[in-house]
Amino acid sequence: MPTLLAIGASPRYDHSTSRKLTSLFVEKWQAAHPGGQVIDRDLLKTKLPFVDLPWIGGAFTPAEQHSPESAAAIKISDDLVAELKAADHIVIGTPMYNFSIPAVLKAYIDHIVRVGVTVTPDNVGLLTGKKATVILASGGDFSPGSPIEQYNQASGYLRQVLRWIGITDVDIILAGRARSGGMGETAVAQFGGAVAAAAA
Ligand SMILES: Cc1cc2nc3c(=O)[nH]c(=O)nc-3n(C[C@H](O)[C@H](O)[C@H](O)COP(=O)(O)O)c2cc1C
Repeated sequence: MPTLLAIGASPRYDHSTSRKLTSLFVEKWQAAHPGGQVIDRDLLKTKLPFVDLPWIGGAFTPAEQHSPESAAAIKISDDLVAELKAADHIVIGTPMYNFSIPAVLKAYIDHIVRVGVTVTPDNVGLLTGKKATVILASGGDFSPGSPIEQYNQASGYLRQVLRWIGITDVDIILAGRARSGGMGETAVAQFGGAVAAAAA
């Protein structure tokens, strides 16, 4: 049975363009994969700690040497990695913040990029055979040919970090011109077709 991991990173919930489009993606994916499992990873509710010294101790020393603090810190990461490994398709719905990704999504990435776990010490990504779709909502239009296309640091970064852990089949849907005061009303009409195609 295929599994979809749906990652949400917007605090705007009902008003969020990325969440509206991610919900549509999930709906279309379920229709295309009857009986498939969907795991919801809402990063606003997950409240992930940032990488700290106990986490680093846990990530870079053998389990038998872990202090209780390191064991607890790395368990959060281990659980997120297990969830990611179980997924065949990952959809990441995220706003663009300051030309890049929100801190909650970066905190998640810092937990799931693990030497010896998701990438080998000689830089071979271990999460192969998966597909990822990124839905990136932004106020500006960063589509190809736009004068501010090069300001978008989020797409290239996400593509690179996913490739680093072995996920090379990555689709990015740029849902631009979504004003921060707006409610995402037009998002489905504008980008629904691209989202549905990515979920098929
Ligand atoms: C803190 C913050 C930073 C933002 N930075 C950018 C930015 O750098 N470029 C941009 O085009 N839009 C930016 N925006 C606008 C959001 O990307 C846009 O409102 C988007 O719809 C947010 O996604 P959401 O609707 O899923 O919450 C920013 C919004 C906020 C709240």
